[in-house]
Amino acid sequence: MKNGIAYIVFPLDVPSLSEARSYVKKLDGAVGMFKVGLELFIKEGPSVVQMIRETSRAGIFLDLKLHDISETVGRAMEQVALMGVDLVTVHCASTRKMLERAVAGSQGKTGVLGVTLLTDNDSQAVESAGYEQKYVEDLNRLVLKRAGMAHGAGCRGVVCSGHEVAAVKALLGKDFLAVTPGIRPGWSLLDNDDQARVTTPAKAVLAGADLIVVGRPIRTAADPREAALRIGAEIDEALGQS
Ligand code: C5P
Repeated sequence: MKNGIAYIVFPLDVPSLSEARSYVKKLDGAVGMFKVGLELFIKEGPSVVQMIRETSRAGIFLDLKLHDISETVGRAMEQVALMGVDLVTVHCASTRKMLERAVAGSQGKTGVLGVTLLTDNDSQAVESAGYEQKYVEDLNRLVLKRAGMAHGAGCRGVVCSGHEVAAVKALLGKDFLAVTPGIRPGWSLLDNDDQARVTTPAKAVLAGADLIVVGRPIRTAADPREAALRIGAEIDEALGQS
């Protein structure tokens, strides 16, 4: 059975290789996966992936949120596949063909995750973007429609909020990965938090999340390793495996 730690994805939301290395060393064995986002990848490039591989046995999630014409995304994915990362993100807001080309480009070496709807997109943003009223009134509907498209295109899973995990799993089955950001343990409510729809680690996993992205509650803790281990233990307890 998967232990609590294996559910935790730590985003390396720092601007330099040296800071990223320091977190990877600190958290090795206390999280299941490290996520590399645009800030770090634009600054340091594939050397970050190499550094994680040399420093830790954790998985690697490249959060590139690709969105371009199908041909370009397919070709970019071929390069991602050469890097040998475990997961990469692609926006679901474009065509099914783009997602299919992303999956084809990954050549089965990297799991493609569809980003359903960014958490800063509210009803007003969706309306301004020209979507039908039924989606403006019920964003969940849009998330499920895009998740269905990602599933049909052969994606490994989607990124969605903890509030949508159960519906995604019910619709698309337990093998279709649900990766959930916006995680806040009860003991780490942050001041001026910009994450709107938050969930605790235990609630997200009980709802069916396969991976939870936990950044600031770990990064800003006095002892980040202790915070990650505590989250892992909470998940184990919620799953009845402590
Ligand atoms: O836990 P914290 O809010 O610090 O996590 C921030 C991370 O989660 C960032 O790396 C961000 O890209 C990612 N993320 C998010 N919301 C999404 C998708 C990813 O905050 N909808």
